Amino acid sequence: MDYLQITGGAKLSGSIKISGAKNSALPIIAATILSDKPVKLTNLPNVVDIRTLLKLLDILGGTVEHNDTVANINNGTMNSTKAVYEIVSQMRASILVLGPLLARFGECEVSLPGGCAIGQRPIDLHLKAMEAMGATIEIKGGYVRAEAPNGLQGAKIVFDKITVGGTENTLMAAALAHGTTTIVNAAKEPEIVQLCEMLADAGVKIEGIGTSEITIEGTGQKPLTFKDVEIIPDRIEAGTYLCAAAITNSTITLEKVNPAHIEASINKLEAMGCSFKIDGENITISGTSRLKPVSLVTTEYPGFPTDMQAQFMAVATMAIGESVIEERLFENRFMHVSELNRLGSDIWLKGSVAAVKPVAQLYGADVMATDLRASSALVLAGLVAEGVTNVHRIYHLDRGYDNLEGKLSTLGAKIERLSE
Ligand code: EPZ
Repeated sequence: MDYLQITGGAKLSGSIKISGAKNSALPIIAATILSDKPVKLTNLPNVVDIRTLLKLLDILGGTVEHNDTVANINNGTMNSTKAVYEIVSQMRASILVLGPLLARFGECEVSLPGGCAIGQRPIDLHLKAMEAMGATIEIKGGYVRAEAPNGLQGAKIVFDKITVGGTENTLMAAALAHGTTTIVNAAKEPEIVQLCEMLADAGVKIEGIGTSEITIEGTGQKPLTFKDVEIIPDRIEAGTYLCAAAITNSTITLEKVNPAHIEASINKLEAMGCSFKIDGENITISGTSRLKPVSLVTTEYPGFPTDMQAQFMAVATMAIGESVIEERLFENRFMHVSELNRLGSDIWLKGSVAAVKPVAQLYGADVMATDLRASSALVLAGLVAEGVTNVHRIYHLDRGYDNLEGKLSTLGAKIERLSE
């Protein structure tokens, strides 16, 4: 198994290009099921999760040509509606094929996504939405079997909790439904906006894009014809590199970013003492030798993103005072705490709140990645820890970061990928 070996203490400098957003590419790949014609996706991130979902399309009978950042997909050849356990168990976002398969073919069988390190992550809201649109849902043998033989019917869907995946599945199902669907309390992430724009560009009438109330006029089971889609920049990848500059007190530039998508992270880093220069799609961050402590609560977009919580905790370990971090979206997203404490940080947990007390220095050690964003937090801490840090189980990292060690090396970090 691979691990990353980092020798701490290097200052970073220079610039790197941010890749396409994994969390926008995944629903967009699923949405191609709504079409029986070819479509081209560009600026895909070169990460495991993208390859996994493209493999699922292939297993379902779709035609997929994929090189690093471009995929040509034609689901006109699709001949199966069973998303098998072997794939879904590798990546829970495979559940995003539920809505499009059901909408296009009137039935599907999707393996229930397995457990996940950061929380239970149920899909009850996805299933309730499908039932509200007329589907019959049965759960048996670890599979969700959904049927809507006469197609889905437009409905009013009120989410009692904001769900990114639930909103995405419902948008895709509604696109081919008979009649109008209204989603109330919809998620507003940039990836939701890009998915809506992709559907709208295919002729689906959508109102309220980017708001918490979205109305979709379905085509009544008429497959869509998509225009080519260029995936938006990855706001979480960008935020992670901003944290790399902050924790090492460096000045770096990120290219091909959408600054509007990372305002919450920029505001928090400014509050900690970092400064920014924004020039179109380029952001330059300069760190500070005296990082102020931070107080943050994770919440849905445009609030502070849960996917940046672990990375900010790593930065907070080097602040001159005590930081307080509350995780409100997931019930178990502090797995990085005990690993950061192995590097010498002094973090205390009480329920969903972490107190990050100041320490003079972190010291290199062997640590273990537990989930995608926790892995990146451990790498960030390794950049500043004295001596050598080995981050093990980085298959978690490879799911969502495109060439992290290569980009950090370009910026001057002493990091390399080795095999155990
Ligand atoms: C998406 O997951 C992202 N993944 C996650 O990023 C991100 O952390 C999350 O949104 C929140 O922003 C992708 O986009 C592929 P949710 P998703 O449904 O859609 C509960 C990463 O690091 N919930 O918005 O699964 C759920 O348990 C990943 O890139 C229900 O209770 O998140 C959670 O507490 C990690 N019932 C909350 O809602 C449901 O039916 C938010 O979940 C669905 C969700």
